[in-house]
Amino acid sequence: MDKELIEKLIEISLEQRSFAYVPYSGFKVGAALLCDDGTVYTGCNIENAAFTPTNCAERTAIFKAVSEGQRSFKAICVSAGRNEEPDDFAAPCGVCRQVMMEFCNPDFKIIMAVSKEKYKIVELRELLPLGFRLEA
Ligand code: THU
Repeated sequence: MDKELIEKLIEISLEQRSFAYVPYSGFKVGAALLCDDGTVYTGCNIENAAFTPTNCAERTAIFKAVSEGQRSFKAICVSAGRNEEPDDFAAPCGVCRQVMMEFCNPDFKIIMAVSKEKYKIVELRELLPLGFRLEA
């Protein structure tokens, strides 16, 4: 992936953290999802007093995109933490990995970002080996 595009996704995911609704954990997560056609969908985590309805930033972005007709995805950038700036890499939770598995190829890229200078890129095949999928 081109460096300029990676940096743009990082910037968007960092901005999205400001929209996180996190009265329970204080852990602000932002996501930027890149579709095959170049469109970028955003997401933040949205918590709930009943806890289980909480939606992660990654799923917010994926569900927004799918609900608007997108089905092909290249990459997602995730940034997270309790402080103003993220202090560590945040790996997507197991539920989000399974949702990625539903719509993305094994080479789908997950960019875990602390800043524009500090990030790691992994592929879905590494985060969810032997992932479950039904052939349509
Ligand atoms: N969270 C995400 O948004 N993405 C992840 O992949 C991991 C966890 C959120 C859920 C909850 O609002 C907070 O982080 C603490 O678990």
